[in-house]
Amino acid sequence: MSKELRTVSGMRPTGPLHLGHYFGVLKNWVELQHTEEAYFFVADWHALTSDYADPSKVGQNIREMVKDWVGAGLNPEDCVIFRQSAVKEHAELSLLLSMITPVSWLERNPTYKEQQQQISNKDLGNAGFLCYPVLMAADILMYRPHGVPVGEDQLPHMELTREIARRFNYLYGGDLLPEPKAMLTPAAKCPGLDGRKMSKSYNNGIFLSDNMADIQEKVRGMFTDKARLRKSDPGNPDVCNLFPYHVLLSSAEEQAEIRQGCTGATLGCVDCKKIFLRNLEAFLTPLQKRRAVLDANPARVDEILAHGNERARAFACQTMSLVREKMGV
Ligand code: TRP
Repeated sequence: MSKELRTVSGMRPTGPLHLGHYFGVLKNWVELQHTEEAYFFVADWHALTSDYADPSKVGQNIREMVKDWVGAGLNPEDCVIFRQSAVKEHAELSLLLSMITPVSWLERNPTYKEQQQQISNKDLGNAGFLCYPVLMAADILMYRPHGVPVGEDQLPHMELTREIARRFNYLYGGDLLPEPKAMLTPAAKCPGLDGRKMSKSYNNGIFLSDNMADIQEKVRGMFTDKARLRKSDPGNPDVCNLFPYHVLLSSAEEQAEIRQGCTGATLGCVDCKKIFLRNLEAFLTPLQKRRAVLDANPARVDEILAHGNERARAFACQTMSLVREKMGV
């Protein structure tokens, strides 16, 4: 199939991927690789904007992330998998775009303000953190994509990317850098084990690489409907922490049965968790098998990245010669 549309996206290598990453973003990537020319990269420079003081884990996380991606179904034959810092053109474009980006745009970015306030264990007063969205705009605009598959939390950054593209085209004429749209995954609700957002920092996640014994432990401790104390009490799936996972992993029929069993007090929470564990295992097994192939062959991870880096660089070089020409450098 010839692929007419182009897309690009990235993730910061901050740790192992969990179900929230899968259902929020990765699943979308896996589907897109078949229909679009797709570039997916490990945003290691972006990880440094906040983890600059202790970069020791970034290197290992990069390889782990590639394994998670391939496990989840990204196929290096169908898409380009690369590492941001291996394509130095991203830094050059980021520098050039910073010339045309007002500081006020960066300072009023809601994500920037929010993280400045919320993250207290790291000093985020560095210029690199303020310029995070400029680098992200460079990552994206480099590939002149029509859309970018991201989670909702990235929407402010996407808006800035569009504003920067618009300003570039206005200043230098033409439409070299088209304004890309955000491609959101149709609302997938995947809360953490405790009902808050699934996040590594809350320690409430089920990771794609977790083994079933660990997962059983995690699921055993999960709250369901807190008002339901006995099986003979009717439960309410709409306030249950577990039910959203059934929506993601169980067939429509099974979901209906579970809902009926819960509200009708015939299916207890322990049995309901058993159904979940069975479906989760069926879901994770093929992912973990694909991942295990890479665990057994670490050189393959390097090979995937080397091949992807080269393909990404070839595209990036083309964009950069056009950008340089426009900006007279
Ligand atoms: N900001 C994104 C995140 O936190 C990572 C990222 C960096 C990105 N550059 C990008 C995502 C370009 C999409 C496109 O997950």
